Amino acid sequence: MKNKIETLKQQLNDLSIETAEQLEEYRLQFLSKKGKIQSLFSDFKNVSKEEKPLVGQMINSLKNQAQESYNTFKENIRSDKEEDKDELDLTRPVEFSHFGARHPISLVRNEIVDIFNRIGFVISEGPEIEDDFHIFTALNFPQEHPARDMQDTFFIEKDPDVALRTHTSSVQARVMENTPPPIRTISPGRVFRNEAISARAHCIFHQVEGLYVDKDVSFADLKQTLLYFAKEMFGEETKIRLRPSYFPFTEPSAEMDVSCNICGGKGCNVCKYTGWLEILGCGMVDPNVLRNCGINAEEYTGFAFGMGVERIAMLKYQVKDLRLFFENDKRFLDQFSGAF
Ligand code: DAH
Repeated sequence: MKNKIETLKQQLNDLSIETAEQLEEYRLQFLSKKGKIQSLFSDFKNVSKEEKPLVGQMINSLKNQAQESYNTFKENIRSDKEEDKDELDLTRPVEFSHFGARHPISLVRNEIVDIFNRIGFVISEGPEIEDDFHIFTALNFPQEHPARDMQDTFFIEKDPDVALRTHTSSVQARVMENTPPPIRTISPGRVFRNEAISARAHCIFHQVEGLYVDKDVSFADLKQTLLYFAKEMFGEETKIRLRPSYFPFTEPSAEMDVSCNICGGKGCNVCKYTGWLEILGCGMVDPNVLRNCGINAEEYTGFAFGMGVERIAMLKYQVKDLRLFFENDKRFLDQFSGAF
């Protein structure tokens, strides 16, 4: 009997268990009701009276040892499994990660900026919350001009001198104040107007302003620059036409149309059967504006232009409702992925 116990003890010491199956096998062999240790208890009744205390102790200690080993093996197997979880599995198929896309307004703004960068216009930016001087006064807006009205402009309640800029022309005033000519700059940015939101208007939109100030800058330079822009933006066949207009900060002023890129000038519902699409305002910088910004108007002349980014994006991508640019509907935005 003692030998049998010793042999089992030795077997236990020699055991190595690595898998859950081996552990279960071990439990059945040693610890179950029909296992080897239980059978020792059955044989115990045949042990002589003198030996019973010692043999009893040996069987009990064997049983405890077997149970402890079982617990230890079980614990090891469980922590192995947890380690497995963290392991890098290089055979797993790659999970598709969804790339974002640039917003169509950013795409068009970048394209406009890029076109002017190529002919030497550098970017300048100014604040969205501006003072009256840079939005209106420096740009030759008379005190009673309707654009200064509460109906167009978002003023800051506490200070009537501060407003959200209604156009990026405010940046040209800032650049002229701070930079001696020659100036060739392009200013993209957000602008704000107190307008009802509709398919054609929004209270927040984007503009790009252009400014060129140097000696002998002429209207011909303006026209040539804008023709270059129109061809780059809408295609080599694009034509432009300039119609006389009025802006307080330019004299003379004009509005520029491009030949309709949808029908090629033949007439369609996008160009309202005129063959032309209006895309920007422009003109020669009014000498008063140069003076207001500290530039010698006897020595320098300049041209300026300003365009709405949404307007160009609508024409380029044939989007009929301006509000789509602001709603961030993924189904709309996904159509521009891969476009940059
Ligand atoms: N600031 C004008 C607007 O918001 C656009 C504009 C027109 C800008 C003519 C100019 C310009 O620089 O010369 O409607």
